[in-house]
Amino acid sequence: MAHNVIFMLLAIVYLLINIVASLNSSTDEYALLAFKSQITSDPNKILAKNWSQGTSFCNWIGITCGRRYQRVRELNLADMGLGGTIAKEIGELSYLRSLIISNNNFHGFIPNEIGKLSQLQEIEMQYNELNGSIPPTFEFLENLSKLNISHNWLTGNIPNGIFNLTSLTELSFRNNSLSGSLPMDICFNLPKLERLRISLNQMSGNIPPSLGACMNLKLLSLSGNNFTGSIPMEIGKLSKLQILYLGGNNLIGKFKALFVYIHLPLH
Ligand SMILES: *[C@@H]1O[C@H](CO)[C@@H](O)[C@H](O)[C@H]1NC(C)=O
Ligand SMILES: *[C@@H]1O[C@H](CO)[C@@H](O)[C@H](O)[C@H]1NC(C)=O
Ligand SMILES: *[C@@H]1O[C@H](CO)[C@@H](O)[C@H](O)[C@H]1NC(C)=O
Ligand SMILES: *[C@@H]1O[C@H](CO)[C@@H](O)[C@H](O)[C@H]1NC(C)=O
Ligand SMILES: *[C@@H]1O[C@H](CO)[C@@H](O)[C@H](O)[C@H]1NC(C)=O
Ligand SMILES: *[C@@H]1O[C@H](CO)[C@@H](O)[C@H](O)[C@H]1NC(C)=O
Ligand SMILES: *[C@@H]1O[C@H](CO)[C@@H](O)[C@H](O)[C@H]1NC(C)=O
Ligand SMILES: *[C@@H]1O[C@H](CO)[C@@H](O)[C@H](O)[C@H]1NC(C)=O
Repeated sequence: MAHNVIFMLLAIVYLLINIVASLNSSTDEYALLAFKSQITSDPNKILAKNWSQGTSFCNWIGITCGRRYQRVRELNLADMGLGGTIAKEIGELSYLRSLIISNNNFHGFIPNEIGKLSQLQEIEMQYNELNGSIPPTFEFLENLSKLNISHNWLTGNIPNGIFNLTSLTELSFRNNSLSGSLPMDICFNLPKLERLRISLNQMSGNIPPSLGACMNLKLLSLSGNNFTGSIPMEIGKLSKLQILYLGGNNLIGKFKALFVYIHLPLH
């Protein structure tokens, strides 16, 4: 009896959550229009023509909504030649799982508000002209699996909290102007990490021996920075490692020659 009542109450709560979620879908439309309003260049008139208020935003180009209710799950605007800044209202797309704006001409800052998107699993912003620093709020993205912000103009440190996101499988910061050093406990909470690219930045300090704790690493690229000291022996423990790039640093030690000659430097 009591079980039935609890079950019914749960069912009602579930229904109410769904109703609230669909009522709130106007928030998503508002956020998408705010995003569109900051696009200053759209050479193929893709958003200009397609993202029109007369039609449901779930049918707009680059948008995938959830099956149960009309909320944006994926925003994929890769390779559209878009230019402009990223509107902070993007942080209102609360159901977003995948944010892909790679290969465009977005400039300016990455909004802190992206850290509010707690369901995000994938961020791909590579090949743009984004500057400023990586938002420290990224450390709240507990389900983030893939973060690729390579080939931008980002400066400052990599927020340490990013290395505490246990779901990460891919992390790429390649070819920015990031500086500072890597935390000594970098791999204590990254059991799933398979690919880590930090090459072509201005990172300094030692290479943390704890990298040996990223047991699933297949690719590790630290080349083209200003890392100093010796190559930690612990890297030799990475039994799944297939590609290791360490060239173009100021490293010393007996393994330097071996690594640099086996694997291409400066890649
Ligand atoms: C509905 O929108 C408001 C305002 O944007 C937000 O604070 C709230 O969390 C949303 N609720 C749901 C269930 O998405
Ligand atoms: C926008 O693009 C989608 C997908 O290509 C298409 O189905 C839809 O009809 C377009 N809407 C408008 C208003 O052009
Ligand atoms: C993160 O993923 C887990 C497992 O899929 C899920 O239970 C949890 O609700 C997710 N967290 C958020 C904030 O979406
Ligand atoms: C970022 O780029 C914008 C132009 O897109 C510029 O106005 C701003 O000063 C730059 N900021 C930094 C920190 O480089
Ligand atoms: C690095 O990024 C810049 C643009 O920010 C690009 O012009 C350059 O070709 C990239 N370098 C490499 C080696 O990929
Ligand atoms: C991860 O979080 C723990 C506890 O908050 C902290 O002690 C540790 O320094 C963090 N690790 C990194 C790499 O930020
Ligand atoms: C990041 O993006 C580049 C370019 O699209 C891609 O080749 C790479 O596999 C991505 N991931 C990592 C970890 O570099
Ligand atoms: C690299 O680090 C060394 C030692 O800390 C320092 O002397 C040198 O100026 C740095 N070089 C660059 C290009 O940052």
